[in-house]
Amino acid sequence: MTYSTDTNLNHIGIVGVQHGDEGKGKIVDTLSERYDIVVRFGGGANSGHTVVVEGQEPFVYHAIPCGVLSGKKNMIGNGCATNLDRLHDEAEALAQRGSPVTPENLVISSRTHLTTPYHLLLDLAEEVHKGRFGGRVGTTMQGIGPTIETKAYRSAFIRAAELRNDTPSELEHRLAFIGDEVKRRLKGMDITVEHVLAAMDKSGESKTMTRKFRDDYFDGENFVDDKKVLERMLQHKERYTPFFGDVSLLLTEANAQGKRIMFEGAQGTLLDPNQGTYPKTTGTTTTMAGIHEGTGTYFYIARRLGVMKAYATRVGEGGFPTELVENGSLTEVGAYIQDTGKEFGATTKRPRRPGWLDLFAAKHACRVNGFNEMGVMKIDVLDKLKALKVCVGYKLGGEELKSFPDDERDLARVEPIYETLPGWNADTSKASDFEELPKKARDYALFIEKELKVPVRYISNGEKRCQLITRHG
Ligand code: IMP
Repeated sequence: MTYSTDTNLNHIGIVGVQHGDEGKGKIVDTLSERYDIVVRFGGGANSGHTVVVEGQEPFVYHAIPCGVLSGKKNMIGNGCATNLDRLHDEAEALAQRGSPVTPENLVISSRTHLTTPYHLLLDLAEEVHKGRFGGRVGTTMQGIGPTIETKAYRSAFIRAAELRNDTPSELEHRLAFIGDEVKRRLKGMDITVEHVLAAMDKSGESKTMTRKFRDDYFDGENFVDDKKVLERMLQHKERYTPFFGDVSLLLTEANAQGKRIMFEGAQGTLLDPNQGTYPKTTGTTTTMAGIHEGTGTYFYIARRLGVMKAYATRVGEGGFPTELVENGSLTEVGAYIQDTGKEFGATTKRPRRPGWLDLFAAKHACRVNGFNEMGVMKIDVLDKLKALKVCVGYKLGGEELKSFPDDERDLARVEPIYETLPGWNADTSKASDFEELPKKARDYALFIEKELKVPVRYISNGEKRCQLITRHG
């Protein structure tokens, strides 16, 4: 008799420590060579994992796990919010690069909730409405929050399973129901077509973020072209039904067969709706806990890798104690980091707000996720800075806090406690092992390790796949 299905202790969970954009895509892509299956358990079209393969144009994954280009099996768990339009665009782009997406290399959980154009509309409308009270989240406008809202209603929803099983008339009825529900919400918020138009036109960023919705579905009278939604969904039903499957069962079987599984997180711990800076968070679970919930599996994940940048960034609204701004403008160092680190959103092209590394927030992430190794990314971006501030605690009302604030508004009020470390003022990008890094850069990594009590296993010192230092032992 076998008492345990934990036949393989080599599964890995990879989760963002900060506000997303830590460089998980690069780590996932590099490490995926050692794994048989790459699984997404949260997020959706809001995330963007940029993978740079030498000699090729960078590829940005949004909906599909990062293992397609490296020839792995990929799975999308039930914890994701899946937009089949975006997934399809991505599948086409991969096919053009000679890596077609097929039911052999991608399984989509039949339990995943689907993001429809109505969810995109609701995202936009909610942002307008919240903006009236100064409470915008600054979402990516990809309908993630609303997909989780309709999931929680348990009435106006559509999962892959419903798409697969509905007859065309049932599907029409279901989509109309979601559309009506969303339009009722819009009415309650007093959002008109003009408001929606103005929100889409508000800035270059909002134009970029809403372009697909506008081009493909926006209707100047009725908000959404309902016929088009049905037509597209019927195409997706035909195309993607063969991809729908029981991810929980497949992963559990794979585990029992000794297959190695990589769980690829989206966004970061501080954007988690339960453990992050709520309500300025995303809708799906971003922490290690999401692996079990978002895939329907419960076997042991031996490696729990946190990924953080050597500094911090945040996109969208929300408190950011170490942000490098003064009187509403970026400081010189902030502008330098944003520019050198190319800190502009992979999905939305929005500029990311830069800040000093915040180890107090990272400690919270370490506890929440049980990280037992850490990847520190983009250390090369700091190469030319003379001194580096690192936040090691917060004070609120003169008192030092014991743990990360539970009220997002406090983040605007806390005073970071900094330690200042010397910069290394040298090129780190050519180093291929830890000892080749300048001593002060090594000290910076060791400081992180000491504060977090988690070994720094990987250090990324450039965009290329090969610029990833691994520490052994
Ligand atoms: P949503 O996920 O689009 O609802 O956006 C909620 C918050 O999460 C906003 O502040 C977004 O900017 C942020 N966000 C969502 N996805 C990402 C990501 O992949 N990287 C960084 N921030 C993200």
